[in-house]
Amino acid sequence: MIDQTALATEIKRLIKAAGPMPVWRYMELCLGHPEHGYYVTRDPLGREGDFTTSPEISQMFGELLGLWSASVWKAADEPQTLRLIEIGPGRGTMMADALRALRVLPILYQSLSVHLVEINPVLRQKQQTLLAGIRNIHWHDSFEDVPEGPAVILANEYFDVLPIHQAIKRETGWHERVIEIGASGELVFGVAADPIPGFEALLPPLARLSPPGAVFEWRPDTEILKIASRVRDQGGAALIIDYGHLRSDVGDTFQAIASHSYADPLQHPGRADLTAHVDFDALGRAAESIGARAHGPVTQGAFLKRLGIETRALSLMAKATPQVSEDIAGALQRLTGEGRGAMGSMFKVIGVSDPKIETLVALSDDTDREAERRQGTHG
Ligand SMILES: C[S@@+](CC[C@H](N)C(=O)[O-])C[C@H]1O[C@@H](n2cnc3c(N)ncnc32)[C@H](O)[C@@H]1O
Repeated sequence: MIDQTALATEIKRLIKAAGPMPVWRYMELCLGHPEHGYYVTRDPLGREGDFTTSPEISQMFGELLGLWSASVWKAADEPQTLRLIEIGPGRGTMMADALRALRVLPILYQSLSVHLVEINPVLRQKQQTLLAGIRNIHWHDSFEDVPEGPAVILANEYFDVLPIHQAIKRETGWHERVIEIGASGELVFGVAADPIPGFEALLPPLARLSPPGAVFEWRPDTEILKIASRVRDQGGAALIIDYGHLRSDVGDTFQAIASHSYADPLQHPGRADLTAHVDFDALGRAAESIGARAHGPVTQGAFLKRLGIETRALSLMAKATPQVSEDIAGALQRLTGEGRGAMGSMFKVIGVSDPKIETLVALSDDTDREAERRQGTHG
């Protein structure tokens, strides 16, 4: 079936004019095209939408992130003003829950300014409605627009939507994966004619040994370096939560999600979420390469349990009806458990801080490599 979205027409025009399009450019256009991009035109979250995220599953998630933010404030010697920044805040649910939890610390709460970095006008409107009444709150089009100062930076399911490159191993070397126009006029995957010079030497040792046909994915370090240099120079820490792998390795994780199911990424460009797993190893290395400190990564399940999610669930259940209590138990399992539909080991968490902060609460990584080994590298 030939796709007829306006964006498909535009992408084909660009391919005809300039030749095959690298996967990262295709992903960039599908998600961020100023008129037709997926993240510019809609609220994709929730049962009626395409996917559900941790903050939408339970209030416990945002509450615990609020308390984790307080622990960073303490570790940073309680600065008089703290910027609480969220990148890609969805409906604003996580920030609302975090701020409610932070009210228990009036000195910190009074010192906060809240900054939401969001490109999506539909979601920005929802955030403004939900967070109406919060003092000292600001919206920004880009992270660089947030004023200077010590900060806690939160990003849940943000990195997976940042465009990736893919390279495929052939007998001739590693070639960039591209999108081109097939015999019937449809969008199809292809590979660039020439190999990428010197690519193999840049790969992690595991990936170098892979057979022809293997796919290696990578994201430019631009976003993580912006975050890491900010906390290195101005103090504080960032927390990045997403699905992904602890160690860099080969694997094709480029996927489309629509109506809570996998879809063909080349069908209906601009109408499905396009994502790829996050390489947490690469994030940590990039942050440390410029002198920030990386903490973890650990699995989401371990992180939330160390922050006390089980105790919080019990206290909510004690006041709830049997039906609500069952929902809370279900949410706990989904956020921290393993296996189908559960996010406990599929999702990982990494902290990046000012190097003066030696440890971040719940982010020592000792036990989690074991979970990754059991699950396989590309969980
Ligand atoms: C997968 S959603 C996650 C939403 C939210 N963090 C949650 O967990 O529910 C991705 C979020 O990132 C936003 N986003 C996508 N690209 C962005 C960009 N380049 N800059 C800032 N926000 C972006 C989307 O509009 C959305 O709010």
